Amino acid sequence: MTGEQPAVVVRDVRKSYGELKAVNGVSFTVAEGEFFGILGPNGAGKTTTLEIIEGLRRPDSGEVRLLGESPWPRNVKLLPRIGVQLQASSFFEKLTAEEQLRTFGSLYGVSAGTAADMLELVGLADKANERENRLSGGQRQRLSIACALVHDPDVVFLDEPTAALDPQARRNLWDVLRAIRDRGKTIVYTTHHLDEAEVLCDRVAIMDRGEVLALDPPAVLVRGLDAPTHVTLQKGVLPVAEASALDGVEEAHEDEVSLTISTRRPAPVLSALAERGALDGLQVRTGTLEDVFLGLTGREYRA
Ligand SMILES: Nc1ncnc2c1ncn2[C@@H]1O[C@H](COP(=O)(O)OP(=O)(O)OP(=O)(O)O)[C@@H](O)[C@H]1O
Ligand SMILES: [Mg+2]
Repeated sequence: MTGEQPAVVVRDVRKSYGELKAVNGVSFTVAEGEFFGILGPNGAGKTTTLEIIEGLRRPDSGEVRLLGESPWPRNVKLLPRIGVQLQASSFFEKLTAEEQLRTFGSLYGVSAGTAADMLELVGLADKANERENRLSGGQRQRLSIACALVHDPDVVFLDEPTAALDPQARRNLWDVLRAIRDRGKTIVYTTHHLDEAEVLCDRVAIMDRGEVLALDPPAVLVRGLDAPTHVTLQKGVLPVAEASALDGVEEAHEDEVSLTISTRRPAPVLSALAERGALDGLQVRTGTLEDVFLGLTGREYRA
C-alpha cells in the first residue's frame, strides 16, 4: 500500500434506467482512512452510486477506481479487501446468525472464533443460535453489518447501516465504526441521520437527482450557512417586545410554549437574558447539517 493512492476515485459516472438519470455525472475521491458519507433524499442515487463503486452495477459511462483497481467487470482481487453491506440485506437460508457469519468468514479463511467475536461486536452474542428469519429488523441489520466486517476489509461500504437500529444499537455502531476508522480503514456509507453524519464523517457528499450538490467536511458546510443562532426560552419569562429590543436580537417571536430569539451575536443576548433572570428553559440551537441539507435539496417529497 502506498498510502498516497486514494481508496476510491469516481470520475463523471453516469447510469440511467430508461429515461431516468439515476446517477448523472458524479465525481469524487475518498482518501485512504477517510470516513465518507453520501447523503441525499430517497431516490437521489446513493445506492446506485455505491453499487457501481462496489462493482455490483455497471456504469453507462465514467470511471471508477477502487484501491487502484477497476471494480467492473467483477474483480476477484478486490473481494478480500472490501466489505459490503447492502441496503436490502440477504442471507443464506435457514442458517443461524453465527452460521451466517462463519459461512461468510470461511469464504475468506476467517477462523470460527472471529464469527463469535463479530456477533459480540454488534451485540448479537445471545442470538448466535437464532435462525436469521427469526431475528428482528434491527438484529438482521446488525448481522449484515457483522458479515460485511468479518474478514477485516480495508474499505467498508455500508448502505444505511443505522436505518432500523434502536438508539442504543446506533450509538454502539458508531463506536464500532470509529474503531474501524481508527485502525486506518476507509468507510463509505449512506445515512438519513444527518446528526450522525455530522459527528462521524470526515466529509459528506450531498446528492440529489443523481448529482453531487455539495462535498465538504460537515463543519465547513454548516459554517457556510451563516445561519442565525436560535435561543428558545419558556413562554412568559420575558415579554416579546422586550426580547425584540435587546442588543443583538434580529427577531423574536412567541408561540404557545416558547419564545424564540434569532441572533448572530448570541453573547450579548445571553448576558442580557441572564441579567433579567430570564434563562428558564433556555435552549440554544445553531445551524446544523440538516439545515444545509434542506437548504440544498428543498422540502418537497421525493418519489
Ligand atoms: N434497478 C432499477 N431499475 C430502474 N430504476 C431504478 C433501479 N434502481 C434504482 N432505480 C431508480 O434510480 C433512482 C435512484 O435510486 P437509488 O436506489 O440509487 O436511490 P437512493 O439515493 O439510494 O434512495 P434511498 O434513500 O431511498 O435508498 C430512483 O429513482 C430509483 O427509482
Ligand atoms: Mg438507497
